[in-house]
Amino acid sequence: MITNLNANQTADFKLQLGTFYIAVWGCQMNVYDTGRIRDLLSSKGYAEVSSPKDASVVVLVTCAVRAKAENKVFNQIDAWRHQGDVNDETIVALGGCVGTELGQKILDEDRGVSIVFSPKTIHRLPDLIELYKATSRPVCDVEADSMEKFDSLPLQGRRGASAFVTIMEGCSNKCTYCIVPYTRGEEKSRNVADILKECRNHLQEGACELHLLGQNVNSFCGLNDDGSECSFAELLYEVAALPKVQRIRFTTSNPMDFTEDLVEAIGALPIIADAIHIPVQSGSDTVLQRMHRRYTAESYLKLVEDIRKVRPSARISSDFIVGFPGESDAQFEETMELVRKVKFDQSFSFIYSKRPGTPAADYPDEVSQEEKKQRLYKLQALLEQCAKDYSQEYLNTVQDVLVEGTSSKDENELKARSSANRIVVFKGSKDLVGTMVKVRIVQILPHTLRGELL
Ligand code: SAH
Ligand code: SF4
Ligand code: F3S
Repeated sequence: MITNLNANQTADFKLQLGTFYIAVWGCQMNVYDTGRIRDLLSSKGYAEVSSPKDASVVVLVTCAVRAKAENKVFNQIDAWRHQGDVNDETIVALGGCVGTELGQKILDEDRGVSIVFSPKTIHRLPDLIELYKATSRPVCDVEADSMEKFDSLPLQGRRGASAFVTIMEGCSNKCTYCIVPYTRGEEKSRNVADILKECRNHLQEGACELHLLGQNVNSFCGLNDDGSECSFAELLYEVAALPKVQRIRFTTSNPMDFTEDLVEAIGALPIIADAIHIPVQSGSDTVLQRMHRRYTAESYLKLVEDIRKVRPSARISSDFIVGFPGESDAQFEETMELVRKVKFDQSFSFIYSKRPGTPAADYPDEVSQEEKKQRLYKLQALLEQCAKDYSQEYLNTVQDVLVEGTSSKDENELKARSSANRIVVFKGSKDLVGTMVKVRIVQILPHTLRGELL
């Protein structure tokens, strides 16, 4: 990446090569798409720069899951314009889920954007940039088959110690609060050979951890070469058998499709990380039903029990929505009760955000915003306590950690990640970056663990 250009260099780069700056919001699937856009633009001769003011093209990969996430991108564009980092010469290309959600509307409302694309059309971005350059007319291109991009993108570049691999796109579950089925489209799985090829490439490029991605990875149903179907559990065995892979993570699993064979795979494959993310959203069956989540608090508890039976060191994390329209105090307390029973590790919780076009946007909602905030604070305090209790258990244990890089606070320290997804900092040589090492945990810090290299 090119950093700190002076004014003349900036002008030269913008004219000769084309430079791009890329920013990303949202989930890991967006981070994956961003990596692929980076490789694509680089392969076409664009040079990446570290500031929007040095860029001829500013690429924004956005999230629409909550209103706040959506607003962030427009606030950012306004701020850059105000500071002069982005001007009328800059080509602003807005993609990600807001691209699909608002599409042509973004151009009609003149929000300082030249190109609108979507998670499905990232492979067309270079052509869209050329089209805009040739015509100076804003362009919106958000529709394509969601598998098309995978066939059209160049092989990926180096990703570091851990590499994301999207195994499926979209979601067909239509939970009543969620915009994802409308922004990423119907659920579709990639072919097994295609996924394994991408995994092998990352492992050859030096990754030792593979992180499989999808909105509901456990409902994966890709095709094998002979046309037969492959389940997610079967895919895990295939990925685990690849040479050089040392750890596998997957995100996100819907409790609904968490089948017995997947639980068995977790027991049979120690290479699968201890951290398992299974969003429950609520502990109230009434609320779950109104959210169109197809499981109950009891079936969720049974699932956690089954996983812990085959993997006692498993750490279950979750996502929660508080203040879903009509959620009563008693129903919120059922969520608190479930948290106490499961004892979740490092989880995410959000106040319900009304998303246009989703069924819940029309549900009556008598709960005040203030009440919702109070519920969120209560839940977060409990979740934090659960995570803290787990942290204490690591003191004096030996952990296998994957070294991701140097610590942002101290150049002389390394930053690594444990199987249970804890950040561990310790002193060691930079040569260890990208490898798996053993450390003893010697101190519990508020958000990290301190270790000693063994
Ligand atoms: N596919 C995953 C979730 C993906 S979205 C699953 O079903 O488990 C990530 C998280 O965002 C969700 O788990 C949910 O907690 C949160 N979320 C989605 N829509 C939301 C909304 N309208 N308001 C608040 N949080 C929301
Ligand atoms: Fe959204 Fe539900 Fe699909 Fe998850 S399963 S992406 S919450 S619709
Ligand atoms: Fe956001 Fe789209 Fe991911 S809405 S959470 S970026 S799938």
